[in-house]
Amino acid sequence: MPTHNPDSRTPNIDQTVDRKDSHLAICLEEDIDYSAQGSNGFASYRFDHDALPEIDYAKINLSTELFGKKLSAPLIVGAMTGGTSRAGEINRRLALAAERCQVGFALGSQRKLLKNSGDKELLKSFDVKNHAPGIPLLFGNVGAVQLNYGVTPHDLRTLIDATGCDAFNFHLNPLQEAIQPEGDRNFSSLIPKLKDCIPELGVPVFLKEVGAGISATTARKIKSIPFHGIETAGTGGTSWSKIEALRSSDPTGAATGRLFAQWGIPTAESLVHCRTEFPDRVVICSGGIRNGIEVAKAIALGADASALALPFLKAAEKSVDDAVLAIQQVITELRTVLFITGMSSVDELRKNGSTLLKKDFDPTSRGSQ
Ligand SMILES: Cc1cc2nc3c(=O)[nH]c(=O)nc-3n(C[C@H](O)[C@H](O)[C@H](O)COP(=O)(O)O)c2cc1C
Repeated sequence: MPTHNPDSRTPNIDQTVDRKDSHLAICLEEDIDYSAQGSNGFASYRFDHDALPEIDYAKINLSTELFGKKLSAPLIVGAMTGGTSRAGEINRRLALAAERCQVGFALGSQRKLLKNSGDKELLKSFDVKNHAPGIPLLFGNVGAVQLNYGVTPHDLRTLIDATGCDAFNFHLNPLQEAIQPEGDRNFSSLIPKLKDCIPELGVPVFLKEVGAGISATTARKIKSIPFHGIETAGTGGTSWSKIEALRSSDPTGAATGRLFAQWGIPTAESLVHCRTEFPDRVVICSGGIRNGIEVAKAIALGADASALALPFLKAAEKSVDDAVLAIQQVITELRTVLFITGMSSVDELRKNGSTLLKKDFDPTSRGSQ
């Protein structure tokens, strides 16, 4: 009888469909978002409502600064895509929307560009700076695991220069790679490699999960790496385990992906761990954040900004205007929270917000959200 070796699974995916295009199709067409279940951890917090806020709604200041770049609100269009013509079109729409709303914008994995740096079409799908030069803060992106697959600091520096990024995301996605039929799974010795690589990149560097969150243990383990910021990408939103399960036609891989669909650290919990372990670094909260109340709760719990991915993808699939409306909707909701909690700015919410947030242990309570 043959022994079972998980790494011997035969990928049986349609090789004619690019991986990034198949991710887009699954995200837009399948049920891979767990946000409706309220499992991102924010539902157990509620703000104290202020019936007499004594501030002028029109004068509320939502602007925030990250690495000297001014954003109109503490909001980032989360890392998603690039590398195909469809992905390029989505990136251009999202970039134009981010520029119009003056919020941050993160490119998806640029791994393909590393392998084909001379490919002009490929570069075009990531070259949003040419299309929307007024984006206030642009992040590049590659999986940290690629440092074990031949990627060098010089390669990344070239990538950052080619796309004019202001900051760079290394994604940490061991669960996704474990489920992905063609996943890169050698995550050994990445801490020393990241330590060596980060100072070479010349821009602020972030570490981010992709939907399974950063635990307290991981946060402590990575403390000595000289990254500048961290993005939680906790559970409660897009599930990459579920997405890869849907891509896999190998029954073992698909069943494993389904089992781990909600594995990880809920976003609110991950945020508290990251803020505790990294008091002086930038913390971006993401993973299932779907409205301005959750953005406000994240800021009150210590986040510098929030990133939303899937909701902005769904809007950009329709048009730039829809993406703008989706961003503006979150901003209006955030402004409303500040007004009815008597906070005149995001900075004030960040400093005093935790005193307004109640951990609501009574499931029958009907307090404010
Ligand atoms: C279509 C799509 C593609 C993504 N691709 C990447 C990627 O290339 N690199 C990355 O770091 N994260 C990627 N992500 C993960 C997001 O940046 C984010 O961490 C995750 O989706 C959780 O946020 P959400 O629940 O708001 O979608 C992707 C997300 C989506 C929806």
